[in-house]
Amino acid sequence: MKDLMKSFDMTVKYLKEKLDAIPEIAIILGSGLGNLANLIENKMEIPYEDIPDFPRTTVAGHEGKLIYGTLSGRNILAMKGRFHFYEGYRMDEVVYPIRVFKCMGIENIIVTNAAGGINTSFSPGDLMLITDHIGLFCENPLRGENLDDLGPRFPDMSAAYDRDLQKLALDCASRLNIDLKQGVYSYCKGPSFETPAEIKALRILGADAVGMSTVPEVITANHMGMKVLGISCITNMAAGILDQPLSHEEVMETGKMAEEKFSALVSEIVANWK
Ligand code: HPA
Repeated sequence: MKDLMKSFDMTVKYLKEKLDAIPEIAIILGSGLGNLANLIENKMEIPYEDIPDFPRTTVAGHEGKLIYGTLSGRNILAMKGRFHFYEGYRMDEVVYPIRVFKCMGIENIIVTNAAGGINTSFSPGDLMLITDHIGLFCENPLRGENLDDLGPRFPDMSAAYDRDLQKLALDCASRLNIDLKQGVYSYCKGPSFETPAEIKALRILGADAVGMSTVPEVITANHMGMKVLGISCITNMAAGILDQPLSHEEVMETGKMAEEKFSALVSEIVANWK
């Protein structure tokens, strides 16, 4: 664990030397939601492979870079391409960037993702404000020796998604006439999609949407006391709701369709960040 702290120091030093200021907000861009990067001005792109001790993206041709610049006039650092547990990364690799962000001095994070809709009042293309999550099926990224310098052994998760930021997101959506849904995001490990029986079980547990990311990052951000806002793009109805198979193509296509709305909402939220 001492070595992990040493790695953070190396990575943070490299990034701080590259950036001319500490970004106010980090933004993780979910699958199919990378278009927001086009709205970032004065950008500097930093490929993951150039960053000391940063995890490497596994799939050749899969984008992996940090994008530093201004969005709505605010200094931000976006992550295009995240690390999923299903790709084979260890949990400490999945959450490495979040710890680096906090060690750099970034206190705020917007976590976004593509998700399957479990709540039958949702439709593909909807955006959902994450009000809470179910991470019971997720290996906890904090397992093992606690990194006392970063946060407590038993972090509180009773308001994992900041309430003031949720209100801000709802206000911004209403100004933009975006019907922002709200709900509980449930994590599943993937990479296979869930079965209809699993989706029924998750609905009974209180889930409104399901996806293969976000929960590890949000637990880690909470451990370190960061403020978290989460937004899902409902890219498909979860397994068994419609009489049709699920596919990654559908996830990516619907993500593209919702991209403009998503980018407008995130830009408005960043512009009004307190
Ligand atoms: N299940 C899990 N992850 C997902 C889904 C889904 O239906 N859609 C997008 N990511």
